[in-house]
Amino acid sequence: MSSERLDEAFLKKAFPHFAISIFDSLSSTSDHLKQSLLSPHLCIAEQQTAGRGRLGKIWFSPPGVNLYFSLLWPMQKTSAQLEGLSLTIALSIVRTLHSLGVTRDLKVKWPNDIYWQQKKLAGILVEINSELAEKNHVVLGIGLNVNMLPEHRPDATNPWTSLQQILNHPVNRNTLLVALLNQLIPDLIRFDTEGFIAFLPYWPSWDYLYHQAIQVEIANHIVQGKACGVNNKGHLLLQTVDDKLHAYSSGEISLL
Ligand code: BTN
Repeated sequence: MSSERLDEAFLKKAFPHFAISIFDSLSSTSDHLKQSLLSPHLCIAEQQTAGRGRLGKIWFSPPGVNLYFSLLWPMQKTSAQLEGLSLTIALSIVRTLHSLGVTRDLKVKWPNDIYWQQKKLAGILVEINSELAEKNHVVLGIGLNVNMLPEHRPDATNPWTSLQQILNHPVNRNTLLVALLNQLIPDLIRFDTEGFIAFLPYWPSWDYLYHQAIQVEIANHIVQGKACGVNNKGHLLLQTVDDKLHAYSSGEISLL
């Protein structure tokens, strides 16, 4: 392993009211929490053997270098009201990384990819735990490339980067995780009461797609146009050649 190990005592001291599970190796922290009956519950792994991304993609999860964690969190909102949650989480992450020294070229690609200079730095997966009744319990899965170097991933096909490559020094994953959760948790509580609209003012500063020519693919249907930010639900706004503005709640985005 090339970083310090995840420190259970340190994390338990920082978040005494959470269940915390740390694994050397796990299929997927999000899969683990989808079965959990404890909430809030933080699950972290040094390595994932079946890390998942959105749209069935694999999340590359080599041992000891990055953060792979999921948080099971109770929410009052119904599933339908969770639109904009992934954007809120992405904003939370970039605001934390900015405060830790990543002061330029950091962007959020709608709906929830974090890029630095057109290279993927982090991804977010929002799912629902259906084992727990009464409230809605969301499983937020976050993969953040922290100390991964090209030698850890020689055969990558898509451009990626890590905090160590951006900052030119290794980053302590334990203190980073505490900083991320200290921003994320108040943001989740605020989202639950106020919704995405409370975070809308932050979006333009971090919008990777703004005024770019893009295509949105949804259910084998492709629409092209110019990205024009998001609305107060967090839906992507696309202006087509006929000057109409369309709003998308999901879809796969490609730059043209
Ligand atoms: C994406 O970019 O499509 C989302 C990637 C999410 C990866 C994280 S790593 C921790 C958690 N466990 C998983 O299996 N996936 C998420």
